Amino acid sequence: MEHPTALVTGATSGIGLSVARGLLEKGYFVLMTGRNEEALDQEKSRARSRGRSIETLVCDLSRQKDVETLIEVTRAAFQDKVDILVNNAGIATFASIEETTPEEFDHIISVNLRSPYLLSRAILPLMKAQKEGLIVNISSVAGIDAWSGTSLYSMTKFALRGLTGSLLAEGAPFGVKAVAICPGYVATPLVAGAPVRLEEMIQPEDILKTILYLKDLSPAAVTGDIVMKRLGGL
Ligand SMILES: NC(=O)c1ccc[n+]([C@@H]2O[C@H](COP(=O)([O-])OP(=O)(O)OC[C@H]3O[C@@H](n4cnc5c(N)ncnc54)[C@H](OP(=O)(O)O)[C@@H]3O)[C@@H](O)[C@H]2O)c1
Repeated sequence: MEHPTALVTGATSGIGLSVARGLLEKGYFVLMTGRNEEALDQEKSRARSRGRSIETLVCDLSRQKDVETLIEVTRAAFQDKVDILVNNAGIATFASIEETTPEEFDHIISVNLRSPYLLSRAILPLMKAQKEGLIVNISSVAGIDAWSGTSLYSMTKFALRGLTGSLLAEGAPFGVKAVAICPGYVATPLVAGAPVRLEEMIQPEDILKTILYLKDLSPAAVTGDIVMKRLGGL
């Protein structure tokens, strides 16, 4: 492949959009996914007009068939060479345990946990074969602590850190790294209505910078999970 490659899920908005755009600017061939076709088409035009290498795929990560198609398209577009996988797509449900439903449980697990598992399971062997690669799972401070009303979200984000630990242990002998990034409030549509002003939140670009920093480390260096807090709070 002429360019380094990156698959970014949830690339139509917020953190994923910022990460995908930043990697495109750094010369990566980026595959952006999400359900919002219009947003993906706009990004494709924007990137191509800037001479960047981009592929997009409309994909609902709660559907296993869509995830399988995403894996096939990624392998074909990147010719089986994936440098960075960013499992970023996610949804949040905030309600007391009694108010949550088993259907909501299944849905949030499918998007926030099952799809990162399926994608990592497919991409890790490719990275092991090429003897390098970085898997970034976007967890949360709600994957470190749980609070009243965060049960479903916290369950998925704690578990994502568990997946990351095993990915790192199994990838390390082959030069493959895995890191979970656990931010507090990041200024995106996901936290519209939060009791913190957007300008006082972590910015999506801070997550991009963290991924670039991880990628820049020498082959033997890796961090543990990265907890990024908002100055003066979560
Ligand atoms: N914002 C925060 O304060 C914060 C803090 C800690 C962690 N995080 C985590 O950061 C990640 C990104 O969140 P964000 O804040 O950037 O939120 P966002 O702006 O709402 O973006 C969420 C992304 O996930 C995608 N997505 C949601 N459901 C999907 C599905 N079923 N299939 C495919 N894609 C789906 C959305 O794309 P479509 O709508 O196009 O499908 C969108 O691109 C999430 O995992 C979130 O839990 C956020």
